[in-house]
Amino acid sequence: MSAIENTPSEAPRSYDDAAPVMGFREYWYPACLSREISDRPHAMTIMDEPIVFMRRKGTVYALADECPHRGTRLSLGSCQFPGSNTITCVYHGWTYDVTNGRCVAAVTDGPNSNVVNKVSVRTYPVTDCQGIVWIWMGKQAAVAPEVDIPEYLRQATVIKVVRRHAYGNWRWHVENPGLGHALMLHRSSMYMRVRNYPGIATGIEAKLEDGDCGPWLCEYCSAVQMSAEYPGLGTWPPPGSAWSLVRENMSPMFGIAAKVSLRLPGITRVTHFPINGALYYEWFVHTDAEHYIYFQIACGYPKTAMERASFNLRYNLWGRPAGMVRFNSQDLTMVANSQDFAKRRGGWNAPTRLYGPDRMQIAWRDYALRYARDFANRPGAIQTARDPEKIDDRVQAAGS
Ligand code: FES
Ligand SMILES: [Fe+2]
Repeated sequence: MSAIENTPSEAPRSYDDAAPVMGFREYWYPACLSREISDRPHAMTIMDEPIVFMRRKGTVYALADECPHRGTRLSLGSCQFPGSNTITCVYHGWTYDVTNGRCVAAVTDGPNSNVVNKVSVRTYPVTDCQGIVWIWMGKQAAVAPEVDIPEYLRQATVIKVVRRHAYGNWRWHVENPGLGHALMLHRSSMYMRVRNYPGIATGIEAKLEDGDCGPWLCEYCSAVQMSAEYPGLGTWPPPGSAWSLVRENMSPMFGIAAKVSLRLPGITRVTHFPINGALYYEWFVHTDAEHYIYFQIACGYPKTAMERASFNLRYNLWGRPAGMVRFNSQDLTMVANSQDFAKRRGGWNAPTRLYGPDRMQIAWRDYALRYARDFANRPGAIQTARDPEKIDDRVQAAGS
């Protein structure tokens, strides 16, 4: 188990000490695709917990993948009573009702076994939305899925998913998005080389905005410059380094003006990515302290068969390979670098230097501390609702 627990005895005082290594638990997370779950067990690890998914009578269920008898993986078991809502452990035959986790038989001990109705295995709330199976990992009662699954994701008429098992802790990735890295790191990607993209952005500001199951922390900047002269060094970006075939689409989508925004429990949202008209979300679903599932979801809103064909063509030929795969692979490399850095320097709390564009990251930490459900109901927790001015003040102070 990781050094930083999810259950501090009082409200955290700083994100450095409090951001759970295994993520904020009291939220819905995407786990897998609905079509991957059949009547046969499907094993996964989420937040260091082994979980088995399966379908019974068309409904998806999730249980702790651990038989209470001797700890055998339930995912090695099978349904021994066709048509029932049960799974039977492969080892000695303890049999569980998947709808509530209760042991309903121990088949090698006869129908009157003493463990019947005395033992149970943990079940996790799951829901199927947009072809994705979502799981509630929290200790508190699950909130309605509609509270957490963004509204514009639920409204999409086309959903595209890319997933990778990534190396690194989720916190590095949630702090990755923002102009500071996009203007440099992604400049070398094919996706950006065709774009008329500025080299410099100043006056970065993070603002809290409601909507789409918000609040979202939205990134803005007051000025952009295509290039600048660096005394004694020359011009950057170098002339001719981008082909300027495409102008980046910065127009608002659903009233969302910011290109990039963040939300608890660690979701990135990007407008017009990976193709114009798509709204992009990504989750970092923690498997262990050094790995996570990079769960990328592109949402499309075509209404007609023609619009759908156009969306699919643009996505398959360009958006997926150039954007969600290659462009975002650059982020994964940086997260891996950050993870290694933390290990060399003794962990997450190793101090790092900050510069202007890090305002977004500072604001995220502040926002997470203030709003995470995991911290609610603890002595000293900030219970108030939105307080954007205060956050902006603190960001200003930290970045100046
Ligand atoms: S370990 Fe599962 S029945 Fe014995
Ligand atoms: Fe990026």
